[in-house]
Formats: sequence, C-alpha cells, structure tokens
Amino acid sequence: MDFSIKACDWSKGSANGFLNGKADVVVLGVFEAQTLTGAAREMDLVTKGLLTRTVKAGDMSGKAGSTLMLTEVTGIGASRILLVGLGKQDAFNQKAYTEATRAAWRALLATKIANVAFTLAQLPVPERTGDWGVRCAILALREVTYKFTQMKSKPENGDRALKKVVFSIDAADDKAAKLAVKHATALANGMDLTRDLGNLPPNVCTPTYLGQTAKKLGKDFKLKVEVLGQKQIEALGMGSFLSVAKGSVEPPAFIVIHHQGAGAKAAPVVLVGKGITFDTGGISIKPGEGMDEMKYDMLGAGSVFGTMRAIAEMGLKLNVIGVIPTCENMPAGNAVKPGDIVTSMSGTTIEVLNTDAEGRLILCDALTYVERFKPAAVIDIATLTGACVVALGHHNTGLFSKDDALAGELLDASKEAIDPTWRMPLDDEYQELLKSNFADVANIGGRPGGAITAACFLSRFAQNYPWAHLDIAGTAWKSGAAKGATGRPVPLLTQFLVDRAGQ
Ligand code: BES
Ligand code: MN
Ligand code: ZN
Repeated sequence: MDFSIKACDWSKGSANGFLNGKADVVVLGVFEAQTLTGAAREMDLVTKGLLTRTVKAGDMSGKAGSTLMLTEVTGIGASRILLVGLGKQDAFNQKAYTEATRAAWRALLATKIANVAFTLAQLPVPERTGDWGVRCAILALREVTYKFTQMKSKPENGDRALKKVVFSIDAADDKAAKLAVKHATALANGMDLTRDLGNLPPNVCTPTYLGQTAKKLGKDFKLKVEVLGQKQIEALGMGSFLSVAKGSVEPPAFIVIHHQGAGAKAAPVVLVGKGITFDTGGISIKPGEGMDEMKYDMLGAGSVFGTMRAIAEMGLKLNVIGVIPTCENMPAGNAVKPGDIVTSMSGTTIEVLNTDAEGRLILCDALTYVERFKPAAVIDIATLTGACVVALGHHNTGLFSKDDALAGELLDASKEAIDPTWRMPLDDEYQELLKSNFADVANIGGRPGGAITAACFLSRFAQNYPWAHLDIAGTAWKSGAAKGATGRPVPLLTQFLVDRAGQ
C-alpha cells in the first residue's frame, strides 16, 4: 500500500490540482443536517452542484457510518465520489472521525478501486493536531484489512484492489503528516506481527519458533539478538522459570532483543513479555472449554516483538531492550506440582500453590535478569490473570506501578494512542496475602484482588529500578466470532517509547 501526502488549500479552488486526474475516487465528508465539508464544498462547485443535489434529494443524510458512492462524475479528475457521513458537526470528535474512516475504507474495499484521494484527514478534530487524521486513517485501514490466512490450505480470494492513497492536508501540517505516515505504517507492521504470532497455533508458535522469529527480526532490522537455551538458563539460576518449563517436551528459550538507538551509555527502557506459548494450567489443569484460547498466553511476548519491530522501523533514537522468557505450561509426570518449593534467580524461595499461576513464575526471573542493564524503566506485559478480566473487562488494560511518574507517562501514552489503560492499586497491604508457611512467598494470594496480588508478587522482584506492570489478559485478544489477537498494547508501548525519545 502506498500512502502519500499532498498539501491542499480548498479556499483557493485547488480541487482539480489535488486530484490531478490520477485518483479513481475522491472521498468527501458530509455532516448531518447535510453540511458539506470544505473539500466537499469545493467539489460541489466544480461538479456544478452535484453534491448539493444529492444531499437535497435525501440520498446522503450525513449520519455517522453511512456512505454513498457517486459514479460517472464529470468535471473533476476522478470519475467517482465517495460521500461519508460524519454525524453531527458539533459532536464531531476522535471517535466519530475513526468511525467515518472505517466506514470509508469498508466501502472502498468492497469495490475494485485502486487509487484513492482522501480528504477526511483534513477535518479538524478536537484535541488533535493536523497530522493525527492521517495516522488514524492508516491504522484504521490496516485494522480492517488485517487477515490471518497463513494456516489456510488455499489462498483466499486473490489480491486487494486498493493500492494508493493520497491524503489532502493543510500546508502547515505537511511535515508532521509525512512523519505520521512513516510512524503509523511502522506501528501497523508491528501490530500485524503481534497478531500473527498470537493467532498462530501453539504447535507452530513454540518457544523455539519465537526464538527463530527474534533472530529473523534481528536480521531484518540489524538488532542484536540473543536466544538462551536450557543450559544457559540453568547456569543463570532461573529455578522459577525452569520449574514451569520442565513439564513440557518443548525446550524453553530466553530471548533478548537490543534496539540500540542512542549512545551506548544511555540507560535503556526494558520491555519484559510473558511468553507462555500454551497454558494448560499444568497439574492445576484448566477446564477444557475454551482452552484453545490459551495459545494467546504469549501475547505479552508478542507485544514486545511488535513494539521492537515498530520502533526499529521508525529508527527511534532510544535504547530499548526486549526480554522474553518463553515456555509451555504442561501437566506431566515430571511437571512442577502444587506444594513444590522453587528457588528463583534472586534467591527468593517460592511455594507453588497453584501451577496455573505460572506467568509470574517465569516473569520473576526475567525481572531479576534485567537488573544487569541498569534500566531507566522496566515494563512487563503479560496475559497474567483472569481476575484482571473480571475487574476491567475487555476495554482497559490493567496498569500497576508504585512509580507515579512512570504510571503517568504510560497513561498519557495510552490516551494519545487510544489504547485504553486503567491504573490499579498496589498497596503493601495486599502483599500479606502472598504469605507462605514454608517458603519466602507463595505464588497465589487467593481469589480476592487476584490481579493485584499477581502484580504484588512481581513487584518483589522489581525493587531496583522504576517498574510498571501491564495485565493484558482482557485486551490482547477477542473471543467469539471475531476470535483473534488485537495487537494491543503495541500502540500504547510504542507511543510511550516515541514520547521518551522525543520523536
Ligand atoms: N494465562 C492465565 C491468565 C488468563 C486467564 C489470561 C484468562 C487470559 C484469560 C494465567 O496463567 C492463569 O491461569 N492465571 C490464573 C491465576 C490463578 C491460578 C491465581 C487465573 O487467572 O485463574
Ligand atoms: Mn496459567
Ligand atoms: Zn498463563
């Protein structure tokens, strides 16, 4: 897909200059109460009132989400006009804009149209700068066109017709809009990688596969990548991580991906992602219904991959390290059992009261490992608890941090990227629920506040740097008819890093 930007001032009769005879269609916005937008007004003039007549005839109400394709248009460079309803003008906001762009793309994708001249990004949206419309439109298009077809035996209905989109933009926004194209494309590519990894079946997307994916990413983007195997993980003393891995015939891997965008001395941001490629629950086995969905239990890792890919393509001037402990959680004769006590890399002993609380057991060793990087901040990302889904549903990611500054940055990035995140409590009082009669700490704290006690467990291993934890159990994938990975929280993480880099 080819995206480009063209500055256009509609007050100066530049309609045909913008179209230049190259587009198959021009996309124009219409508000409810049948108000034509700036670009549409200009097109109305050059088509001798076609749009006014269409709207007056009642064929386009301007209702949000409605579209109308006009064909055999004369007087302008394109032979078609796609009218897109924008809803009420005084209620026009980010959400209305996003919905209008989605409706526009759906209408276009249903045709054989290849070249599009798109004017909606030029509409002023409250609280957003002029380049945002471009960014948002690209992300919306990439979202509606994403399809996971790798595992189908036959290719699905051929090539997409849509090839080229030119966005009209105010001249003052030209430079920012060009950067928006680059950043939005990189972000969408990152999200696609995350979604692909999540959607792959667990017999393909194994810890070894994730290791190979990391190596490939390193080759494609010139990133230093290390993939540690069983022996090296043992040598590091990661007894907690290994206790989860040992019930599976798939060997574990510990993946480290370095994006060196700044000077060697600049402290890195470290992203740690939970990479359980299948979570049966282990000996504390899960019920059978919907267990297939536990292939998504590697989406913390998947979002680290996607974010690393996005920032590498952007050429972000920041040091970022992605760290992924990855294994399967299986029941077996040699699997970890409830009651087992394991020793973590930090030396802390852990009583495993429930083998299904495995995410924290692999993450705690990764959190100890990353101390060596003297990080500016560490963010772990994990499909950690069903309790977080109960608390926040599928809309908000749970954010846990004692560091108000870091939490504030993440919440700002969440707003900017429209990747909803809600801060959860992490008071010391909850730590008492993790008391063990036999070891330093237990791996579960009971049902009440289950997402919080999981975060409390992790916090014990993240004392030596600014740290935040994102529980994405409710937001990383969708169940039901549209079952699949969402690509979240790659937008949030990428925005956070872009903000840190000041780019
Ligand atoms: N991977 C699950 C969490 C999960 C549940 C993610 C549902 C997405 C949807 C995690 O490993 C787990 O099993 N957690 C347990 C913890 C409990 C045993 C304390 C849970 O949430 O039930
Ligand atoms: Mn589990
Ligand atoms: Zn899990």
